Amino acid sequence: MPRGSAGCGDWQSEPAGAPPEAQAPDPFDALSDSLRAHMVRRLALAGPCDPVHDLLHLQRVAATARRIAASEGADLRVVIPAAWLHDYVNLPKDDPRRDHASRLSAVEARAYLASIGYPPDLLPAIVHAIEAHSFSAGIAARTLEAKVVQDADRLDGIGAIGIARCFACAGVMARPFYSPADPFCVTREPDDAHFTIDHFYRKLFKTAATMQTAAGREEAGRRAEVMRRYLRELGEEIGGVLLINAAGRREL
Ligand SMILES: [Fe+2]
Repeated sequence: MPRGSAGCGDWQSEPAGAPPEAQAPDPFDALSDSLRAHMVRRLALAGPCDPVHDLLHLQRVAATARRIAASEGADLRVVIPAAWLHDYVNLPKDDPRRDHASRLSAVEARAYLASIGYPPDLLPAIVHAIEAHSFSAGIAARTLEAKVVQDADRLDGIGAIGIARCFACAGVMARPFYSPADPFCVTREPDDAHFTIDHFYRKLFKTAATMQTAAGREEAGRRAEVMRRYLRELGEEIGGVLLINAAGRREL
């Protein structure tokens, strides 16, 4: 299996006027397609799934990871399976094993990849990337591939899609959108156990600062600005906020 990006084709050597040759299929597209098909089957067996951790989340993380990997020169043979399988075991928020979900995912993903004959020498790197992707696992990402997958998963929690996921969680938890007395935490500490907007301050803006790759940092900066813009608009609608500082909090 080739390393890095594949399927570029040497278009410059094409003689003028020659009929275009069919492009060789990209082996990484085929790998992605087969992992996607596996996760479709696996999620279907698991029953109804919240939109925070559904197939579309996996699809976005896989696509973002592939983009970051291309820009950073990471090994797609590791990044693609780790991205598609990173949430292989998805536990509810109140499950006592939740902090171990990424380790459990790594164990089961490894077993699956071994069962389909995936190159055994790549499995330790894939296992590490899956284990290290989660905040709660507390495992430092040691390889470029693990950093890429971690950035891709964290990017899905911020920006426009992060806002959607944050409010989807609020619905599941039956948590109010904001504090009517102080929606933007001007005079109190953020408390995301009680108010959804507080999660922007407790976690989302901080997530943007945890990116491990240059491409991840650049995209996180753009997405943080999307969140600040959103808060400004929200402030206009619910209470006439005039100024939002760099962290997205209202200035006095
Ligand atoms: Fe995830």
